[in-house]
Order: sequence, then structure tokens, then C-alpha cells
Amino acid sequence: MTHPFCPGYSKPPYRALVEAYPDTEAYPTAAFRTEWGPIFHRGRLDGSARILLIGQDPATHEDVVRRILVGEAGQRIQGFLTKLGITTSYVFVNTFLYSVYGQSGGTKHIGDKPITDYRNQWLDAIAADNSLQTVVTLGGLADKAYKAWPGATGASWRYVNVLHPTYPDSASASGSTTFAAAMKRLCDNWNVGLDEILATPGALTPDTATPLVHYGSAITPGEHTGIPEGDVPAGLPDWMRAAGGWANRTGTTAAQKRATLTVTATLP
Ligand code: URA
Repeated sequence: MTHPFCPGYSKPPYRALVEAYPDTEAYPTAAFRTEWGPIFHRGRLDGSARILLIGQDPATHEDVVRRILVGEAGQRIQGFLTKLGITTSYVFVNTFLYSVYGQSGGTKHIGDKPITDYRNQWLDAIAADNSLQTVVTLGGLADKAYKAWPGATGASWRYVNVLHPTYPDSASASGSTTFAAAMKRLCDNWNVGLDEILATPGALTPDTATPLVHYGSAITPGEHTGIPEGDVPAGLPDWMRAAGGWANRTGTTAAQKRATLTVTATLP
């Protein structure tokens, strides 16, 4: 049995981009978990992506895997791609390279020039390297990131903004709605997004032709898609690509929680 894996960043222009990643001068440690390092992307960097998705910022699972959108949020949006018939021809980047720390860190720094300039270099590279047919942003900050990219102006691809995959979790945690109501809102919103992307037949070429099945009132377990082996570094154990929940920030003080990630393996 052989195992596909993500070959990383050896190919130009990605090699030079990762060599020159912005550090704490661009990303202040008060607002970003810079101690866990930058996490750049997930998906194809070989010119074969037809859809680009822009997320927000990496979380616990991403800190370990070193690829973005691999935890619960990643499995929800991977399921969205499955509904489009997209199984390999995608690439994800985040609005922020580092995990946001605190409530308003993302909003406060969304307009920062060094952050924007570096992200735009990635977006330019991806747009030049691929025949993109669709760009999808996840949430409000990703929409702002997209609109701050000069390459978006006059582009020929379809652009769609949808709610972030963890909207039900964050909205219900804030107490403004229930998880079930927020999940229903996400599903309705994603159904509109799917319809917009597929509005013009042939505008997004699927990897596997798939009749569209809309979401109901919640994303079911079967509507999550595990992270493909070819998206992660070589040798990563299978359970790190399966359902989330295996990485948690633990500790009794804010500093301890920030410094400590507890990882629980699934035993064979
Ligand atoms: N949410 C995101 O937007 N990006 C990630 O990498 C993880 C969670």
C-alpha cells in the first residue's frame, strides 16, 4: 500500500514565499498565537486547482498538522466541496497565517498592510499558477481579505462568500442564538452558495460529476468529508485526518491554555 502526501513548498514561487513569511513584527503576539508558527495552506500547489477557498485563521488541529482547515471546520467545508464534485482540484489559504488570540484580534488587524501584502502575494501566486473558475470566502474577514486583493478586480471567476463553517459554534457560544438555529442558518446559506457556484452549467468543472444534494437543517455526519491523505505531510497518522476533537487547548490559566495543546491519539 502506498500513501500520497502533500509535497510542501519546494516549487517556485511558494518556496520563496514560505522562506519570507512575516513574523511578530507583522503579527503582534498580543493578537496572534505566533508561538505556534505560521500555517500556510492546504490542497494543490501544482497548478491543478480550479477553486480557491479563503478561510480565516488556523486553530488547534492545524497547529499540529501544519495544514489549514483540517479539524471540524475543515471537514465541514470539505463536505461542501464534495457536494460540488470537487475532490482534488482545490486550494485553501487563510486570511491570517497565525491563529487569532482573543476576541477582536482578527477585526483589529484585518487592514494591516504587512499582513495584507503577504496574503496578496500568495493570492497572486495561486491565481497565476492555476485556471481558477471559482473563489469562495468563508466568513466576513475572509470577504474583506478578498476585497483587499487587487487581483480580485475584473477577475473572470465566480466569487461567492458564505458563512464560516464554525458560525454555529461561535454564534451559539455568544448566546445570541441556539446551536440548532445557527446550524440551520449555515445550511441555508451554504445551499445558496452551492446554487450560486453551480448557476452556470460547466462554470466549475467537477473532478467527479455529482448531482447536487442540498443540506437539510444540519450538516449530518455523512456530509462531513475526512481530509484526504494527499493534503497532509508524509506519514501523518490517519486519525489526525478523521473527525476533529483530538487536539484541545488545556490548562487552568490563560497563559497555560495558550501554551498547552493536548493531543489524544485514537488507538489501533
Ligand atoms: N478555521 C479557519 O478558517 N481556518 C482554519 O485553518 C481552521 C479553522
